[in-house]
This record gives sequence, C-alpha cells and structure tokens, in this order.
Amino acid sequence: MTKDLNISAEEMYWRLRVFDSLSYPSVILSLDKTLIGANKKFYEKFNLSFKEIFGRKCNHMFLFKDTPCDSEDCTINKVIRDKKSHRFTVKHHYKWEERVFSPIFDETGEVTYIIGSMRDITHTKSLESQLHGAKEFISRVIYSSASAIVAADRQGNINLMNSMARELFGDTFENGGNIKHTEQLYPPGKAKEIMQMLRNEKIGGKGKLLIPRTTIINASGEEVEVEMSAAIIYDEKGNETATMAIYNDLRDKIQVERELKMTQKQLAQSEKMASLGRLAAGVAHEINNPLTGILFYASLLSERSDLDESVSEDLGCIIEDANRCKEIVKSLLVYSRSADTKKNIVQLNDIVEQSLKLIRDQKKFRNIKIKKHLSDEMMLINADTSKLNQVVINLVMNAVDSMDDSGAITLTTYKERVLNKVFLEVKDTGKGIPREHLSKIFDPFFTTKEVGKSTGLGLSIVYGILEEHDATISVKKTGDKGTTFIVEFPMYRSDQLAQGICKA
Ligand SMILES: Nc1ncnc2c1ncn2[C@@H]1O[C@H](COP(=O)(O)OP(=O)(O)OP(=O)(O)O)[C@@H](O)[C@H]1O
Ligand SMILES: [Mg+2]
Repeated sequence: MTKDLNISAEEMYWRLRVFDSLSYPSVILSLDKTLIGANKKFYEKFNLSFKEIFGRKCNHMFLFKDTPCDSEDCTINKVIRDKKSHRFTVKHHYKWEERVFSPIFDETGEVTYIIGSMRDITHTKSLESQLHGAKEFISRVIYSSASAIVAADRQGNINLMNSMARELFGDTFENGGNIKHTEQLYPPGKAKEIMQMLRNEKIGGKGKLLIPRTTIINASGEEVEVEMSAAIIYDEKGNETATMAIYNDLRDKIQVERELKMTQKQLAQSEKMASLGRLAAGVAHEINNPLTGILFYASLLSERSDLDESVSEDLGCIIEDANRCKEIVKSLLVYSRSADTKKNIVQLNDIVEQSLKLIRDQKKFRNIKIKKHLSDEMMLINADTSKLNQVVINLVMNAVDSMDDSGAITLTTYKERVLNKVFLEVKDTGKGIPREHLSKIFDPFFTTKEVGKSTGLGLSIVYGILEEHDATISVKKTGDKGTTFIVEFPMYRSDQLAQGICKA
C-alpha cells in the first residue's frame, strides 16, 4: 500500500501502464508549459527519447518558436483557466491532427499538470470533405435542374424548393415567397390523395408514383397542368423520413399538341374541300353544255305562237328550273375556283357596306337589326370585290335564316398589327349550329334548310373564295345565344406593292 496516495501497488502499477498503453501519442506538461514526460506511443511516433523531450517548452516542441504564447487563445492557458479539456485541429503538409489538452487535477481539485494527446484525423477529414463535396454536388444538381423539385418532411412542411419549383409555383420573393406546406401546392384534398397513392404499393411500387398529367396551383391561384413523379424517402431502417416530387410544366407541350391537332384538322378539311372542288368542277363542266342546249331549245319552243296554254306553262317551268340549274352550276364553278378572280387593293369596311346595300331591302330583314362595329383604321386587303360581296352576303343571309324573323346581326371589323391580319366577324342571335354539324357546314350541298329552297352551297362557296384570298373562316362561337363566324385576311402592306407581291 502506498501511504500518501492511499492506493495499492497493483493499482499504482496499472495506472502507470494506462499512460503507456494509450493508443494516441500523449505528453505531460507542467503548468509553466514544460514537457515533463510522454507515453510510449509518443516516443515511437516521433523517434525521440525521454532526454530529448524533458524540460523542453511547449512552444519549442509544437510550434517551433522560441517565445511562449501567453495570449488568451493559448489552449494550455484555457485548460488551466477553465479546468476543462480544449481541443483544436492543425494541418501540416497533407496531414490533419487533432490535439486535445486536458487538466490533471490534484487531490484538492486544482490543476497540477496537463496531458496533451495527438490524434491523426486525416482520414476523417478526407471523408468529411468528400461528404461535403458530394452534398454540394447534389445540391447544385438539384438547384440547376430544369425540372421543379420540392421536398418536404413527413408532416408536409416544405424544406426544399429549387429555383424551377419557385418559378413554377410562383413562390418568388416578389410574391411574398410564402409557400410552406405541400397542401398549398395542389387543389384542396389533392396532397392527401397523392400521399395515399404513394403508400399504395399497387400504384407505381412502394413509395413511388408517376402521374403523367395532373394539376397544381400556383401562387396566383392559377391551375397548371404538369407531369409529376413523387417518392417517399426512407432511412436505412425503412422508416419514412421525407417526401419529394419532381414536376415538369406541360403548358408549352399542351399548346403545341393543341396547335398540331388544329393544323391536322385544317389540313384534313382543306384536302376534303380540294377533292370536292375538283368533283364539283367536273360535274359543273359536264352539266353546263346539255343545260345550255335544254335552255336554248326550250326558249325556242316557247316562242312558238301555236302552242297550247298548258304546254306553254310547262315550257315556262322547264326554263325556270333549267335557269335554277344554271345558277347552281355557276355557284359550283365559283366554289371550284374556275371562275376568274380580279383582285384590287380594297377597304374591307367598304366591302361590308356595299354588300349590306345589296341585300338590305329584302323583306326578310324587316325585324332584324343590323349593327356595324367597323374599325376607324384603314383596313386594306388585296381582294376581288364582287367575290367578297358574295362572302359577306352569304354570311349575313345565313345569319338571317338562323333567326325567327327577329334578332340582331353584328358585323365587326378590326386589325391586328402584330400578326398583320385584318378580321371580319359576323355575329347573330340565332339558334346556333349543333356540334355534330360543325365539321360539315363548309361541305357543298350540306344544308339543314328546306329542300328545293337552299342548295347548301353558300358556305362552301365562301370557303373557296376565301382560300383564293389566302384568308380563313371558322366558327368562333356557337350556342343557343347565336353564332359568330370569324374571317381572317392577310393585311395588305404598302411595301408589298413595291415588291410586286400584290398585283391588282
Ligand atoms: N349563322 C348560322 N347559324 C346557324 N346555322 C348556320 C349558320 N350558317 C350556316 N349554318 C348551317 O350551315 C348550313 C350550311 O350553310 P350554307 O350557307 O352552306 O348552306 P344553306 O344556307 O343551307 O344553303 P344556301 O346557302 O345554298 O342557300 C346551313 O344549312 C345551316 O344549317
Ligand atoms: Mg347559306
């Protein structure tokens, strides 16, 4: 038993062995920062002996300088002052070392010595820097992604939104940037529904979901169509820790698809009209000659003075019907564009006025109001006046026919400078066009009117004439409150004349 310390020899022995068995090189310093000993690991690592270190000052040994450091920052001063361990890391060459200095207390609790240990932390540091690099890389990938990415905790609190997501959801600084919860991203109830689908293994697999088309809500309350893929993020034990979703804005794609569909529809329509036009031209041509013969001989016969009254009446009917057939043939020729076209630079408003003058005296117009909203601007187009008169007259007559002897027809013209277009709209308050008829109204002979009174050639002629003018016609709106037809002409520009594009 060692009397002073009150410990056994065995205890004394193992306590001494502990210091030598420490796996980190360690030194003992007195309070004046003088080295008074080191453990076996230290002597081995630095290839030094007791004699070489004993009595050396800490600043010599570790900082390679003659003057001691008495500043507040000196770790040993801090250990003595605070009576607790302090650590710091140093780098020399490519090695990182952590130095830990701890107080050794006497039996009264005062610091008597200081023990310092050195630990090589190069490997840990390199792992740390790799982890930091990987984290930074992932963060850069997320933030520079062209897709919108949002991540949230299990309660739905958003903790990551990359810049595309901020743009898509309109969560910008200017907008207040106050999207905090996943429920703010969707129409009511949708966030919950998505979480249920994510947890349903039968939909997309466990914790995964792909929705080709869904709706989100942006900061201005606008619904936006997106493609969405979502996932639950699990920890290594398989517990849910977070959720994430990637969104791709479909607005541009949908717009392109819509335009493509429209172009395909227009292409199909113009192909149909072109083949019908060829057929009409052929029929008109074949019928025209025998018809001229019928009219000629019937007229000759009718001039004879020896005819019975009843024969004379019958001949009158033949001539009337043959003339009607001639009119149809003429219309067919206009539709099939065999008739001559003479174009001039004309004011669209003048054409509208002129056409209305040609028809306004008809009885049919008695209780129908004609309203004109004609633009004050010059609305020049390169057109055949008499053919465009036919277009306006046909549209107005159809409008009249769609109403029961009362209502209003509004003719509007306006100009779109950016598109270089001039527009004419003919609106009525009639019964509208049934949806199933919309694809047929421009077909020759399609009519819903009384057989014998209408030929069903009006709109097909309009279509043919407008094609010759590089113009288009479509139904802008139709329903039980009426129909609006819209005609779109290329605007005549004065530079076209100079370039010789437009010859009247
Ligand atoms: N403004 C309109 N409102 C309702 N239906 C219309 C309108 N314009 C055209 N239609 C429908 O389109 C059909 C075809 O019109 P189109 O002008 O080609 O022939 P039509 O008027 O029947 O005969 P035609 O013009 O030869 O006298 C009409 O029969 C009618 O059903
Ligand atoms: Mg008509």
